[in-house]
Amino acid sequence: MEPMTADELTATVIERLQDTPDPRLLAVLTALIRHLHGFVTEVRLTQDEWLAAIRFLTATGQICDDRRQEFILLSDTLGVSMLVDLLAEPTSSGTAGFATESTVLGPFYVPDSPQREYGASILERPSGELTWYSGLVTDTDGNPIAGATLDVWQNADDMLYAVQNPDSPPDNLRGLFRTRDDGSFAFLGVRPTDYPIPDDGPVGQLLARTGRHPWRPAHIHVIVSAPGYQSVATHIFDSGSKYLTSDAVFAVKESLIRTFERHEPGTTAPDGVPPGQAWYSLRHDFRLSRTA
Ligand code: BEZ
Ligand code: FE
Repeated sequence: MEPMTADELTATVIERLQDTPDPRLLAVLTALIRHLHGFVTEVRLTQDEWLAAIRFLTATGQICDDRRQEFILLSDTLGVSMLVDLLAEPTSSGTAGFATESTVLGPFYVPDSPQREYGASILERPSGELTWYSGLVTDTDGNPIAGATLDVWQNADDMLYAVQNPDSPPDNLRGLFRTRDDGSFAFLGVRPTDYPIPDDGPVGQLLARTGRHPWRPAHIHVIVSAPGYQSVATHIFDSGSKYLTSDAVFAVKESLIRTFERHEPGTTAPDGVPPGQAWYSLRHDFRLSRTA
């Protein structure tokens, strides 16, 4: 006999999962069915709404390609990516003595950036206000970590990452750097600008239907890693952004906000800054915790 009530149907579906050999998969799927059925029951989802949801998810998949990942955007804008991040993160990180806090990876990370030398520029064409980024990678006691890797990427002043822009050199504004023996790193990049997440697809329609803006506060992305340490995917946010309190993807953490320092034309500038041009600098240290 088929189940007759909503509760019986939920119990029957969960019962059908019981031969799942992987205990974690069983636990996750059981909770998923319980919450999904609970949600459908709570809102008394209609046939039309169910069909609209199927169409929305279909459109979300259909707009994905090598350069566009709409499901990550959906997860980010629903706060799921940051919830996963918060649950993974030790609560005390970000404070003195603890590791640098993580935040969303986002959909524009592209592996295999070019390796670049200490102090090199990540600009492969003019892309914004030149900024000298420098700092140390240390352990949580402040001891320098030599040979740590920084994988950095940022958007240009047209608000696009290289991967979003077919006219951009593919490696513009991204690069891999290794810390020197004293744990130091440095590179020339640009001052980040606020930018909207792609809003010409299903996720953008959902934002518009719910009265939300698509903007992210200006930031640069860094993944810091070293053998024997937990790697961290993080951002440095610009304290001057007006979107720090309304990030479209909920990814701002207080400990990741920094103030960029402006240097007027004529001040001694790093290599790569043309004479007579203003530039910015940002010093930021990253702390990694040891793997267990
Ligand atoms: C990003 O920072 O690149 C990003 C993160 C989440 C959604 C869209 C973009
Ligand atoms: Fe970004």
